[in-house]
Amino acid sequence: MKGKVLDFTYFKLLNEQLVLRQFGLDRVLSTNQYHQIKKRSMNFSLTDEQLAVQEAAREFAQKELKPGVIERDTHMKYPKEQVQMMAELGFLGMMVDPKYGGGGMDTVAYTIAMEEISKVDNSCSVIMSVNNSLVCWGLETYGTEAQKLKYLTKLAMGEWLGCFCLSEPEAGSDATSQRTTAVDMGDHYLLSGTKNWITNGGMADVHLVIAQTDPEKGHRGINAFIVEADWDGIAIGAKEDKLGIRSSDTHSIMYSDVKVPKENRIGEDGFGFKFAMKTLAGGRIGIAAQALGITGGAYELSVAYAKEREAFGKPIAKHQAISFKLADMAMDIEAAKMLVYRSAWLKDQGLDYNSASSMAKLFASEIAMRHTVEAVQVHGGYGFVKEYHVERLMRDAKITQIYEGTSEIQRLVIARNLLHGQLYVPTPEYGEASV
Ligand code: CAA
Repeated sequence: MKGKVLDFTYFKLLNEQLVLRQFGLDRVLSTNQYHQIKKRSMNFSLTDEQLAVQEAAREFAQKELKPGVIERDTHMKYPKEQVQMMAELGFLGMMVDPKYGGGGMDTVAYTIAMEEISKVDNSCSVIMSVNNSLVCWGLETYGTEAQKLKYLTKLAMGEWLGCFCLSEPEAGSDATSQRTTAVDMGDHYLLSGTKNWITNGGMADVHLVIAQTDPEKGHRGINAFIVEADWDGIAIGAKEDKLGIRSSDTHSIMYSDVKVPKENRIGEDGFGFKFAMKTLAGGRIGIAAQALGITGGAYELSVAYAKEREAFGKPIAKHQAISFKLADMAMDIEAAKMLVYRSAWLKDQGLDYNSASSMAKLFASEIAMRHTVEAVQVHGGYGFVKEYHVERLMRDAKITQIYEGTSEIQRLVIARNLLHGQLYVPTPEYGEASV
């Protein structure tokens, strides 16, 4: 009988057979069934590899990113050397198969690295996130072998950087309303239009561009293309002067009759909108991890400051007004971790993570905004100046509620899924091992 394993009490070896005690009954399992259940049982510990990634990312962020982060943010200075270091450390193609130059790691490890780097420098973490989850993942999952060999390998190794060009001046949340066109000319397309708010826009070597090829077909007439940045007809707009993530590279990009070879289309004709949606569902896990890291960074700074700073004869951490803020931060961080790590885990298990990633991004970005404001409050006047880092984290938090789908779009995705019958984020079935 198939079902879900919810309350098994123990596994044991009995007469050299593996036994699962569930609902008061002993059931004999094959070794295969035992391993299948064990693999999917609830387990909150990280693997050795994930722990090593966490330590490496934390050390890199604290030692290499923290020292210049205020200056880069103030002067909107692109973190060129730091991105180079991220490439060398393997942070730009973490999940890509090693045969294409990637780290071969799981989404949970990538999530943890994003979290640690985002505690310190969110310009670096968004550069990393776009390259990993929007560009490399999309190419590895849906690209042809020739596309992977030509583009993915360099992108995964960080020799090249990629950008994801979906948003337009008049198509942000309403992503199906693409005005950029790609006219089929037989052996190539002619691509024309403007893309907005493109992270890595001025630095990218490879653009993944979404464009309308057949307006009559609506979203089914949209395609995705691999475009090389140095092809004729591409102009990059001025770098945007932003509230947060100020040293990341955000531009509009204009395409004017850019000749794109047919072999650079990703997937079947008309697959472009689904390509964008599927890619963004995973991208949202990266941004959720970024928001989690921002909150974590603000929390760690607040705890340290509150223990040190004295007022009315004792550390402010001992005043209830401050300690309750810290308690709320700690609680929300733990809750966000569950959503963020679980959405990554669902993706790693090959299970549906569409609602889960939206929930993770929505919750993590909302708490990031709320608690970074509180972190500034904990720091008082010092929180209002750059030197103490929390004002930057507060400014950075805002974008996590906007890019890769606003909070409102995440609610829309969750609501549509639940109204279409998916009341909860799916819990995995236990296959043969179920009882
Ligand atoms: N996976 C696969 N297919 C999907 C999908 C998913 N996750 N979501 C939607 N689709 C499919 C639908 O099934 C439908 O296909 P069919 O008609 O064949 O069934 C098609 O896509 C259209 O879907 P909808 O009818 O739901 O389209 P919509 O217009 O009503 O709404 C939306 C879609 C969810 C609102 C979508 O437009 C959206 O996600 N908008 C936000 C865009 C966004 O996130 N932009 C971020 C820009 S990138 C960025 O920020 C990167 C950066 O630089 C940091």
